[in-house]
Amino acid sequence: MIETLTSDDARAAVRLWEETDLTRPWNDASSDFLRAVTGASAAVLGIRDGNTLVGTVMVGFDGHRGWAYYLAVKPSHRGRGLGRQLMTGAETWLRNQGAPKIQFMVRAENNEVVDFYTHLGYVPQYVQVLGRRLS
Ligand SMILES: CC(C)(COP(=O)(O)OP(=O)(O)OC[C@H]1O[C@@H](n2cnc3c(N)ncnc32)[C@H](O)[C@@H]1OP(=O)(O)O)[C@@H](O)C(=O)NCCC(=O)NCCS
Repeated sequence: MIETLTSDDARAAVRLWEETDLTRPWNDASSDFLRAVTGASAAVLGIRDGNTLVGTVMVGFDGHRGWAYYLAVKPSHRGRGLGRQLMTGAETWLRNQGAPKIQFMVRAENNEVVDFYTHLGYVPQYVQVLGRRLS
């Protein structure tokens, strides 16, 4: 069952993100998590197996688009439909916020996950993403 995570889950979520190779040195994953769970228009959804956090997805609505980040399923729990459940949960959460669209970025080096998203019905959005650090 999908639940909305709280700050108590920060360590477990970051551990899962490390295990699934989603963390990068230039992002403070713990701060990312805490900003999302305490922000009014963001959340981190999770699935547990017993007491163990085995899946997450971060969602946020910027007023125009709904975004998903940090989709992760523990390697030992893959292939059981948890990734699909998390993306459905992300869509429901964003729809309830009034977001008309969900989208997300996939790192170039993680291209193989695109097949998973395609299988779920997502299609490429041909845009370039430009950015700059604010801190
Ligand atoms: C991507 C990820 C979340 C998938 O999780 P999962 O729980 O194994 O996925 P599911 O079992 O829910 O799979 C859902 C469907 O996608 C299919 N699928 C899963 N991985 C796939 C892949 N790599 N390519 C194509 N199809 C795939 C499954 O066969 C399943 O099909 P079905 O529902 O028709 O039977 C997981 O592999 C993961 O955590 N990867 C590392 C982190 C990552 O890269 N996250 C994305 C960052 S952008």
